[in-house]
This record gives sequence, structure tokens and C-alpha cells, in this order.
Amino acid sequence: MLILLVNYLIFKLENRFNRVMLIIRSILDTIEFLILFCYYCLEAFILMFFCLRKNVAGKIVLVTGSANGIGREISINLARLGSILILWDIDEEGNSKTADLAKANGALAVYTYKCDLRKREEIYTVAEQVKREVGDVDILINNAGVLKGKIFLDLLDSDMEETLEVNTTAHFWTCKAFLPAMIARNKGHLVSIASVSSLVASNKLTDYTASKAAAFGFLESLAFEMRAAGKKGIKTTIVCPYYVDTELVTGVQTTRPFLFPILDVGYVGKKIVDGILKEKLYVVLPPYARFILLKIFLPAKVVFLLVEYLGLLNNLDHFRGEVQRGQVTKDSTGLPLED
Ligand SMILES: NC(=O)c1ccc[n+]([C@@H]2O[C@H](COP(=O)([O-])OP(=O)(O)OC[C@H]3O[C@@H](n4cnc5c(N)ncnc54)[C@H](O)[C@@H]3O)[C@@H](O)[C@H]2O)c1
Repeated sequence: MLILLVNYLIFKLENRFNRVMLIIRSILDTIEFLILFCYYCLEAFILMFFCLRKNVAGKIVLVTGSANGIGREISINLARLGSILILWDIDEEGNSKTADLAKANGALAVYTYKCDLRKREEIYTVAEQVKREVGDVDILINNAGVLKGKIFLDLLDSDMEETLEVNTTAHFWTCKAFLPAMIARNKGHLVSIASVSSLVASNKLTDYTASKAAAFGFLESLAFEMRAAGKKGIKTTIVCPYYVDTELVTGVQTTRPFLFPILDVGYVGKKIVDGILKEKLYVVLPPYARFILLKIFLPAKVVFLLVEYLGLLNNLDHFRGEVQRGQVTKDSTGLPLED
């Protein structure tokens, strides 16, 4: 009986001791977290005044959707830094124009490939070709995108599939193709051109918003996965621009130009490359657009007031429809445009 009682008391004491140790451990972890939190914020603030940028000269960089708009600007900016460029697009004519511009701007070498990013097998095939012909990719920039700009019930099933395939699932397949070599070297950089639409939706962008939020979530999760695996040499950058003056958004208007102007594509290209060189985790353009995430703290009526004020309900009212590279062919209902 006495032995049982002693055992019980020891058990109780042990339990209490473990609980106390757990609390102490948790307090110490929190203190360590707070110290590191302040230290890293201070470090980032100080580093803002120094121009620490990685060297991409001679690095192999793959840009998808390089034939036009933002992809072309990214390519030209990387060319100026002496990168080896691999340009993927479905638009061969536009891509060879980008290649010429990249060569003229100092790219070490330029390789163009036709690749339809809606097709997983084609992505894998072209990726193997790239590995054979050029080598392992150092920086992968998933930039290609489509935008249909239709209300949900007007979207064809095929429209929605295409948006998801090009804007999201193509990122899965390109990362699957090129990440293993990066992991083996513990070195590489994955970049996703998402959108402010990853942070807040707009009218007529159900499929697009879903695709961009998914692209954002995918790369953020992959970043954490690399961290958990101890692969600190693999960097990720998620880019979220507001509207940019490219053919993707012909006819889109901004209601508050003083607050959210349509961005210049040249400026966006430069800021994206700058963010990559600085190995930023997130690049939001304009930078203050990130405050939109505070919406989740607001009451419903205030959220609707805000989105109305920002024009998110009617930015696409004059959207001219999908562009067949340089030429507007359809309006937002899918009907051919008259001249
Ligand atoms: N323009 C904007 O307002 C804006 C804003 C935020 C984010 N973005 C994103 O930036 C990226 C680039 O957009 P952009 O404005 O330069 O558009 P863009 O239309 O000028 O260029 C997109 C490129 O993607 C290519 N592409 C489309 N479908 C393809 C496919 N199936 N296979 C291969 N290539 C394909 C096109 O040929 C084109 O060269 C997109 O992901 C877009 O969603 C654009």
C-alpha cells in the first residue's frame, strides 16, 4: 500500500515537473523569438541602406511568358546583368523579338523554346530539352499568365481550365522539373509572378483571382518546405503587382489613379529583378498595396465600402478582352470586336 502511494506521489511530482518544464521552455522560446524578431527587423532596416544584391552574371535564368509585357522586361533587365536566358512562350514571334532585345542588351546567351504551358507533358519534354541543351536552371521565373475578365457565369469551362493551367498548375510542373537539381546543389531561386489579386479579389476575376491566390500559396508553402528541409540556399520570391500597362489588361481602368495608378511595365520589370537580386520573399507593387490584407480585420460593410472606393467592382468594365498578341480579337463576352 505504502509503495503504491509513493509511486503515485512520484508520478504526480514527475507530471508537475514536466508541466513546469514545458512552461519554462515555452517562455524561453518566446523570449528567443522576440529577440530574434527584433534583431532581424533591425538587420533588414540597416541592410536597406546597403546595396547588397546577388550576382546573376553567367547564371541560367528561365523566364516563362517571355514574349511580351512583364516577361520581356524581366528578360531585358536580366540580360543587362549578363545572365544566360532561357525564354519560354507559346508566341514564337514575340519570343524571338525578346531574344533579339536580350542579346542587344548583353545577355551571355539566349535560348528560345516554344512551350504551351497548358500542357503538362509538353512542359516536362521542353524542360528535359533545356537540361540537355543548356544545363540546370539557377533561377526559374514563372511569369506567363492569361486573364479572361468575364463574370463567373459567362466563363466557359475551358476558360477557367486555361486560367488555372497557365497561371497555377504550370508552376507545379516547372518546379517539379527544375527544383530537384536546385535541391541537390542547395542553390537556386524560384520566382512567381502572382498579382495583387492574390491578396484581394475584383469583380470579373473569379478564375484569375483563384489562380493567383493559388500560385501565391503554392510558392509560399514550397518556401517553407525548403526551410523545413534545411535547404536555405533555395530562395523564393512572390511578386504581386497591381495593374500594369500590358496587353493582358487592355482597357482596364483605375478609379483612384493617385493611389493606384496603372503601373509602367518598364518600372515593374526593374522592380521585379531588383527584388530577385535582393532575394526578397515578397515584392508588392506599389509596396503599400500590401495594406489591403488588413481587410480581414474590417467589418463587412467597411470591406464593401473600401472595394467600391478602390474601384474593384468596376475596373474591368471597359476591358477589351483577350489579346491574340498585339491584336484584340474578342470582347469580354467572347464576341469578335468590330474595328
Ligand atoms: N498586366 C497586369 O496588369 C498584371 C498585373 C499583375 C500580375 N500580372 C501577371 O504578370 C504576368 C505577365 O503578364 P503580362 O501583363 O506581361 O501579360 P502579357 O499578356 O503581356 O504576357 C503574358 C505572356 O504569357 C504568354 N502565355 C500565355 N499563355 C501561354 C501558354 N499557354 N503557354 C506559354 N505562354 C503563354 C503569352 O504569350 C505572353 O507572352 C502574368 O502572370 C500576369 O497574370 C499582370
